[in-house]
Amino acid sequence: MDNRSNLAEAGLAVGQSGDFARQDEADDSLFYAQERMVSHLDRTALDTVERIIGSLVVEKDPVILDLMASWDSHLPPSLRAGRVVGLGLNQGELAANRALDECVIHDLNQDPSLPFADASFDVVLNTVSVDYLVRPVEVFAEAARVLKPGGLHLVIFSNRWFEPKVTHIWREAGETERPLLVEDWLRAAGGFAEARAFVSKNKPRPQDDKYAHLNIPSDPVYAVFADRLGGDPARPPRPLPGADRARRPKRDLKALAAQVAKDHACPYCGQQLKKWEIPQTPFTEWDIDYMYVCFNDVCPYLVGGWEEMGRQGNLGSSYRLMFNPQSQTLMPMAVPSLSTAKDGIVDE
Ligand SMILES: C[S@@+](CC[C@H](N)C(=O)[O-])C[C@H]1O[C@@H](n2cnc3c(N)ncnc32)[C@H](O)[C@@H]1O
Repeated sequence: MDNRSNLAEAGLAVGQSGDFARQDEADDSLFYAQERMVSHLDRTALDTVERIIGSLVVEKDPVILDLMASWDSHLPPSLRAGRVVGLGLNQGELAANRALDECVIHDLNQDPSLPFADASFDVVLNTVSVDYLVRPVEVFAEAARVLKPGGLHLVIFSNRWFEPKVTHIWREAGETERPLLVEDWLRAAGGFAEARAFVSKNKPRPQDDKYAHLNIPSDPVYAVFADRLGGDPARPPRPLPGADRARRPKRDLKALAAQVAKDHACPYCGQQLKKWEIPQTPFTEWDIDYMYVCFNDVCPYLVGGWEEMGRQGNLGSSYRLMFNPQSQTLMPMAVPSLSTAKDGIVDE
């Protein structure tokens, strides 16, 4: 069964009544009356959000609608917007947002229709807020209506939220299922080309971050996006952040493996590889008992791998560098999480 059928099985697909229930069902304007000039993600994750927007918005002088906006629209300095409209619930937060040319106070949960003309925006953004929408399909359909043909609808999210206001469906979906939910909602809304997704996770948390002492990675950043139908068919697909990595020169793996055979150090981070016992399963193909693996959680090989695997359509996985002492070769070991395979480390 694929993930999508799992969602349907769990009753989490497009939306059944109760899915969008919240702990606090009072008017959203009450909860958001209080100004919150806070950062919702750590600095590294916020840089990633800017990088995603900077990479995907290819329009010249785009007219942008920032939905569920606050004091920061996360537009990178390189992006010269023609005009930016912010729609949210807190006047003070919107007034403090220097990217905005116009602010609109409007409760999307009371009225999902957008107070804008058809085909009036190049880009509709929704950053770290889709988790609060009780009628996401209707809001997405409105996003399609106000977008110009070929325009971008970009939904960015992480794994944190204001507990009283998060919808049941969002909370209960697993982290890997949430991008599929957003894709389902885009499909149900209609008017969009096929959605694509991007993930950045398990980057090192900044040393000066308030949660650095917990030794947890930077907040994950997921982006699901789709173009409004009817755009120029000759325009190339929007470039994902880091897509230019593929054009970087390849490293000489044979020379790296020869070096690793001598010093057992990871050529990407310098840390010593650890002896790792190969689990015996019916699928184990190697006729040796041990490999050597880089288990450094901030090794650039692993850190870059989460995005690289995501770009290849394998959201949520990365790889660690592994050395086979018998064949004296290097290869990637696929890992879905930071803890995967660590129980096989053998103390030497
Ligand atoms: C977690 S904040 C994110 C703010 C901003 N997009 C950002 O990236 O920093 C959630 C925002 O959603 C807005 N919001 C929440 N419920 C809303 C609703 N029903 N209608 C419109 N905006 C809403 C709030 O005003 C709040 O600023």
